[in-house]
Amino acid sequence: MDRPEIILAPGPTPIPPEVLLAQGSPLVYHRGPGFGKLMRDVTSRLKELYRTSSADVLLMTSSGTGGLESAIQNCFSPGDEVFVPLAGFFADRWKRLAEAYGLTVRSIEYEWGTRIRPGDVAASLAEHPVKAVLLTQSETSTGVIQPIEDLARVAREHGALVIADVVSSLGAVPFAFDDWDVDVAVGGSQKALSASPGIAFVAISERAWAAADTATNPRFYFDWATYRTFAALPEPENPWTPAISVMQGLHAALELYFEDGVDAALARHRTLSRGVKEGAQALGLDLFGEGLEQNWTVTAIRAPEGIDADTIANRIRSDFGVVLAPGQGPLKGKVFRIGHFGYFSELDILRGLAALEMTLERLGYPVKRGAAVAAAEGVFSGTEG
Ligand SMILES: Cc1ncc(COP(=O)(O)O)c(C=O)c1O
Repeated sequence: MDRPEIILAPGPTPIPPEVLLAQGSPLVYHRGPGFGKLMRDVTSRLKELYRTSSADVLLMTSSGTGGLESAIQNCFSPGDEVFVPLAGFFADRWKRLAEAYGLTVRSIEYEWGTRIRPGDVAASLAEHPVKAVLLTQSETSTGVIQPIEDLARVAREHGALVIADVVSSLGAVPFAFDDWDVDVAVGGSQKALSASPGIAFVAISERAWAAADTATNPRFYFDWATYRTFAALPEPENPWTPAISVMQGLHAALELYFEDGVDAALARHRTLSRGVKEGAQALGLDLFGEGLEQNWTVTAIRAPEGIDADTIANRIRSDFGVVLAPGQGPLKGKVFRIGHFGYFSELDILRGLAALEMTLERLGYPVKRGAAVAAAEGVFSGTEG
């Protein structure tokens, strides 16, 4: 019998039944009071999540990358210089996006899995000022949560705008738009909030609006000023036909998320992350990346000697219907990744770890049956070791 796949990847994450029902409900027409209320509610919840009272939050029909592209289109002119510390696949996406719009990208290249050192960024900006620093909070390719607060401080001290990709981190790990003095932060519906893919959200500071007023990069679909005009209508709208069903689902997802609140969600992500990490280590596997204590979104795990990581990801999927993420770039075949943010429970993690044990055993790796599950249970019941 075909069963739904069990997603343990870093997005899209599993969708709660309440969200599925909401997005399967009759469409709310996108001009008028029904959609206006959805937009008001979603925007106000997102502001709470971003921890901002000063920024505008715009909602766009797009995956996360469209939100990133909107930042490049709206804040810059061809020839502007930006700084992008490179430590993984998504930082590299910032670089490629910026270059596609004619920006000059300066960077420091770190080995993947490294936490970016704010001191390095400070030294580089002191030597050569730039208009903005483009950051990635959760580097999904390595699992590393980058120190955005410190990096933002350094960037601001050197007069640069701070533009952050929080697609796979908003709602999963701490973030504070106002307190950290961030200028643009781009999130997506399909990650920690566990709605369907299709809506990007962008928080925009006064400074970023000022940059947008003078920037000359071409823009149309993602023109922030157009979005702002429509969002300011008595019944807020999108300029274009939005992904109405996804918005209905996102509304339900945010209501669910805020039933327990941000702090509870963050604590859950931390606990699930620890369960995965302890579980993998109990099987004798090595974890990848710096700052493991803070890396609550996704865990990159090194494949054991002699087994290709893609084989593990393929086999666990074909045998058990469990979707893990393979390694990207230089990590291809070396690591596999388990996502543990969004609508996951402790039991979801235990079932994933059980499938991992059986998969590794089938691939000839010596497994002590139940070791990963027992270690994770220890974390969840507070009785480790
Ligand atoms: C950190 C980060 N940035 C950007 C993206 C791109 O988002 P999307 O696939 O929604 O365009 C992802 C998706 O995995 C991501 O993890």
